[in-house]
Amino acid sequence: MSLLIGDRWREGCGERLRSTDPASGDVVWEEKTATAADCAGAVAAARHAFSGWARMPLGERIALARRFAALLSDRREAIAATIARETGKPRWEALTEVASMIGKVDASVAAQAERAGERSAAAAFGDAVLRHRPHGVMAVLGPFNFPGHLPNGHIVPALLAGNALVFKPSEETPATGEAMLRAWTDAGLPPGVVNLVQGGREVGAALVGADIDGLLFTGSATAGAALRRATGNRPEVILALELGGNNPLIAWDGDAEAIASIVVQSAFVTAGQRCSCARRLIVPDGAAGDAIVDAVAVLTDRLRIGAWNEVPEPFCGPLISAAAADRALAQYATLVEMGGRAIREFARISGRSDAFVAPGLIDVTGVSVPDEEVFAPLLQVIRVADFDAAIDAANATRFGLAAGLVSDDDELWARYRDAARAGVLNRNRPTTGAAGTMPFGGIGASGNHRPSAYYAADYCAYPVASFEAARVVNQVADLRGVA
Ligand code: NAD
Ligand code: SIN
Repeated sequence: MSLLIGDRWREGCGERLRSTDPASGDVVWEEKTATAADCAGAVAAARHAFSGWARMPLGERIALARRFAALLSDRREAIAATIARETGKPRWEALTEVASMIGKVDASVAAQAERAGERSAAAAFGDAVLRHRPHGVMAVLGPFNFPGHLPNGHIVPALLAGNALVFKPSEETPATGEAMLRAWTDAGLPPGVVNLVQGGREVGAALVGADIDGLLFTGSATAGAALRRATGNRPEVILALELGGNNPLIAWDGDAEAIASIVVQSAFVTAGQRCSCARRLIVPDGAAGDAIVDAVAVLTDRLRIGAWNEVPEPFCGPLISAAAADRALAQYATLVEMGGRAIREFARISGRSDAFVAPGLIDVTGVSVPDEEVFAPLLQVIRVADFDAAIDAANATRFGLAAGLVSDDDELWARYRDAARAGVLNRNRPTTGAAGTMPFGGIGASGNHRPSAYYAADYCAYPVASFEAARVVNQVADLRGVA
């Protein structure tokens, strides 16, 4: 049963969709997708459920969200296995994803109270009161790389705020989407408050074209720009776009192996399939830079790459698909053609499925490379003469998601902190360090200034300012210009 519309799980009427384990090719999920009519039906079911859900006292919505978290906890191993099989990420990492999903509930309750709660101030006439109201029906489109955690980061705050939803998971990870929604319905969510449609871009486009009040999107910058165009003549539709990046990491001073541990975690975790992964490593020219690059190469050679359930456990798995590997390898070939020099070749791994690639390191110093995200374990090395040039190189991107500095020098950190253009800016920590207790989002082509995580509460409700007097008071005497 691939769709949840209102109170009914049912078959889709569209094309057949299949997700597979990218390491083995085993089929994980196979069902029919939604049609445009299914999408419209799901939005209508959400619209029908919306007012009752929005009127439910917040405490009851919170209690339901906590039941959902408890069910995720009970099903932790099974959901992690589903995530790992569909994405190829190792079991240990899928378990951390489920833990983030569970933690999202309490973090969102706190965020909502702080950023979208109610407050009141006494005024001469009575009270000035700030309240927040839900938008209505939100469409949530999820990416494949965190198929549970990232849509959950929209869904939990949107439901707490009183919105109803239609969720479309990535076409690469439908089983994870289904497992999430089953936990919500098993937690006792009223019918129609969340609905599920499955399918690819066309199904996403049909959902976006339906009668929605908001679109909460995590995915590529290209798709984000297309969705902005698709909703351009509907300014009333709230749009939260969490997009990709071409993230810089300046590694400047410190013990070379310690630096390498931060670089490798930044660039290669999740096989480079995190929006926050470092794509560009900026190092000083000369011996200090050479030592850093050598240490990164040595540590890269030690990374174990394997299937999600292999023993001993791998550092990372394959890419999401052979097609994703083809795209990334083509981007690498362009860098080589343009003059990039391989330090560690980015290539398929023989004896493995075509989705497996070995992490690559390429020196692109002096080469005018495209400012594109390569969503794979490929790190471009740029050597610079001084720290000003490092800052310039880091900021030379249309994106602005994550960035980092590895240095013990407080003065350099102060300079970079003031000059960097990114929504996540870390020091001596991987660029991939995100937390639900902080906002997460970028500037430039990385989003539309509606950060998610702790600030998701902001785009899930609109503020209402009320100036309230409890009794009708005659104000004729206060009117100016009255005879
Ligand atoms: P994607 O853009 O290909 O797809 C994301 C979702 O949007 C999928 O459900 C897809 O079916 C749908 N979609 C794509 N194009 C569409 C269109 N034109 N109309 C309607 N729906 C459409 O992204 P992906 O490959 O699943 O995920 C990887 C991308 O997501 C990377 O670029 C990564 O940087 C980004 N990402 C961003 C964040 C963030 O928080 N900023 C987090 C994770 C991933
Ligand atoms: C990502 O890097 O793709 C998501 C980061 C997060 O929210 O943990």
